[in-house]
Amino acid sequence: MSRPVSDQHVAHKKITKVCCLGAGYVGSPTSAVIAHKSGDLQVTIADISTERISRWINATNEKELPIYEPGLFDVLECRGRNLHFTADIDKAIEEADLIFVSVNTPTKKKGMGAGFAADLGYVESATRRIAKVATSDKIVVEKSTVPCRTAQSMRKILEANGKPGVHFDILSNPEFLAEGTAIKDLLSPDRVLIGSLDNDRGKSAAASLAEIYANWVPRERIITTNVWSSELSKLVANALLAQRISSINAVSAICEATGADVDEVAYACGLDTRIGPKFLKASVGFGGSCFQKDILNLVYLSESLHLPEVAAYWKQVVDMNEYQKSRFTKRVIQSLFNTLTGKKIALFGFAFKKDTGDTRESAAIALAKNFVQEQCQVSIYDPKVEEQQIWLDLSEPGVDSSLTEAKKYVTIAKDAFEAAKDADAIVIATEWDAFKDTELDYEKIYEQMNKPAFIFDGRLILDSKKLEKMGFKVEVIGKTRSELSFE
Ligand code: UDX
Ligand code: ADP
Repeated sequence: MSRPVSDQHVAHKKITKVCCLGAGYVGSPTSAVIAHKSGDLQVTIADISTERISRWINATNEKELPIYEPGLFDVLECRGRNLHFTADIDKAIEEADLIFVSVNTPTKKKGMGAGFAADLGYVESATRRIAKVATSDKIVVEKSTVPCRTAQSMRKILEANGKPGVHFDILSNPEFLAEGTAIKDLLSPDRVLIGSLDNDRGKSAAASLAEIYANWVPRERIITTNVWSSELSKLVANALLAQRISSINAVSAICEATGADVDEVAYACGLDTRIGPKFLKASVGFGGSCFQKDILNLVYLSESLHLPEVAAYWKQVVDMNEYQKSRFTKRVIQSLFNTLTGKKIALFGFAFKKDTGDTRESAAIALAKNFVQEQCQVSIYDPKVEEQQIWLDLSEPGVDSSLTEAKKYVTIAKDAFEAAKDADAIVIATEWDAFKDTELDYEKIYEQMNKPAFIFDGRLILDSKKLEKMGFKVEVIGKTRSELSFE
């Protein structure tokens, strides 16, 4: 059973200095909020990328930060006071009582488990560094999303390589923030989960970490479990969320073929309190650094445990996501009279969701590549994604010819109007508020497009009737195709 907050009565050490290895999308916002809410705690964020660190140190406004996250700049107000950024990893490790490990854990590209298992190389090297450098006891907190039993591996590495007499306690403390709402999620989390060994040392370490969160999180929302439950809960939470999206996306295909409206179906079903309304928004497919990676981790784990039926069950959530992207691409091609060759598509949005500049696993990447395959000109506009990132996503690492090929077909526009000029179709890939018909002048856009002018709403953000009145041919995910319409 999980042990809620009664752990506050467990004898524990008060932490005064923490460090976080990894200044990315998870490590920096999390550490910044911890520092912002815990004035008596010194927090240092260390990263192997000196360039990244100097951007965190020198940013004078939101735009100069290495990542875009609403509200992040405000919580960085404690920079220089009790929040510090450094590339001196060893010093940060040595000085800290508690170390968060928040480094990247991409899916393995090569070797056993390639395409499914997590590449734990970064976690391992960070762990080895801690073992090598530490001369005093440390609580090491696994924050990156990792496969089950990673904490065990970290513990073995620390025990085998640590200096004599130095003791390490390992905790699992998965982060549940979603990008775009990270600061809100961190300030008011549904729960904080801390996994520890079920012995006195483990419980004491968990209580030390709980005490930090208790600076702003109500005690009843801080729960402790054993380490394996904590690690597995993170994978399962993401798998369950993604499963809802794949479920409603599967329904969107039925809606398109029958005349039902996926928004109405989601609304009607979501009113059932047992189901609830969240994560039922049909889309062109989920993206982000976590969902696909974590499900594939779960699939890999299930296979390793000789549970092929369980593996196949979860794998289908990812397969459905792939199907949704290719189904949407087909709909675009079919609507544009079965050929995209020589046409121009304006791709509105490249981030994997609104309010972030992150493009990891973004559905827009798959769409852009599919359109290029059809020899179509693609003009991309996203309010926050950096141009260089788009080129990285559309080319193969280290293959110069792939970048040249991408540049033959793709341009990056400075705004929505430039992207849509002389285009045959607009494809909405990210649900940025700026793309809503209440924000953007679609009449003006329509005037400068080729006719018939199509708009494909992959995010259900537009008022189709309004756009149809302007003259657009509108095609929406999960809504009847025009030729099947009852009207
Ligand atoms: C997710 C989890 O929500 C978070 O708890 C975990 O810590 C990390 O992974 P994130 O990937 O940042 O967070 O964003 P999320 O809001 O979950 O969206 C993921 C993807 O699903 C996005 O592409 C989003 O557009 C899509 N989505 C989300 C839908 O298509 N429909 C929905 O109803 C909700
Ligand atoms: P996430 O979304 O999980 O935060 P990111 O890729 O945004 O992932 O951030 C991970 C960060 O971890 C990167 O900035 C990377 O440079 C950093 N990193 C990787 N290995 C180490 C390490 N051994 N020590 C410190 N930082 C590391």
